[in-house]
Amino acid sequence: MGRPYVIIVSEVSIDGKLTLYRGASSKELMSLMDEEAYRYLHEIRAKVDGIMVGCETVRTDNPSLTVRYVQGKNPVRIIPCSTANVPLDANVLNTEEAPTVIAVTEKADPERVEKIRERGAEVIVAGDELVDFDLLLPELYRRGIKTLMVEGGASVNWEFVRRGVVDEIRIIHLPVIVGGENVPTLVGGEGFKKLKNLLHLRLRAHFVRGKQLITEWEVAK
Ligand SMILES: NC(=O)c1ccc[n+]([C@@H]2O[C@H](COP(=O)([O-])OP(=O)(O)OC[C@H]3O[C@@H](n4cnc5c(N)ncnc54)[C@H](OP(=O)(O)O)[C@@H]3O)[C@@H](O)[C@H]2O)c1
Repeated sequence: MGRPYVIIVSEVSIDGKLTLYRGASSKELMSLMDEEAYRYLHEIRAKVDGIMVGCETVRTDNPSLTVRYVQGKNPVRIIPCSTANVPLDANVLNTEEAPTVIAVTEKADPERVEKIRERGAEVIVAGDELVDFDLLLPELYRRGIKTLMVEGGASVNWEFVRRGVVDEIRIIHLPVIVGGENVPTLVGGEGFKKLKNLLHLRLRAHFVRGKQLITEWEVAK
């Protein structure tokens, strides 16, 4: 393929929300998940080469993106962060735990990039406005990232979906309704708008882990 095999994995409420309100850390909503659901999530982390979340998720949730609930190797953490505006004390910059790649654009401040490198992270320049996934994904593949788990948020998920560079979507359904018009859902961005443009999925598996329904979808090619 010349790019990693991409699996979007997300915890969403029954009404498709990623968090409690725009700007809220999803950690609060995720606290509803039982250990079985965390184990499911971390089993996937332990199997993939790379794991990605958007820079906004790093700024709001400060995730570690490491494997903790099962035994296994930490994947390489990849954060698209156009202007390199990742907090220098972010957990993903604790590179003693796991390797990290910060993907930036030409407009990133060189001093900021240098500070990120000093934290032990690798910096890849891809694009000039937002990080260009058409450049980034083949570069990751060349560096040995053959499977990539994407854990959101809504903007990054849209970026993968709109480019058609998703192979699977796996959802942990939280048995709650969040509501709210402006609350981020699984996929954000502009939306496809036309019926002919929609991304079609095929249900591959569904099962219950703990108190959560899990569905696994393949993107219809
Ligand atoms: N329930 C869950 O499973 C889950 C998982 C993850 C996140 N969340 C929640 O989702 C929310 C964050 O989602 P979000 O949509 O606001 O942000 P996001 O997708 O996490 O990150 C978007 C940011 O990534 C950077 N970026 C760089 N290149 C990009 C590109 N080509 N396309 C898109 N983004 C690019 C941009 O920041 P720069 O301008 O700095 O480059 C952009 O603002 C938070 O509330 C978080 O808690 C929930």
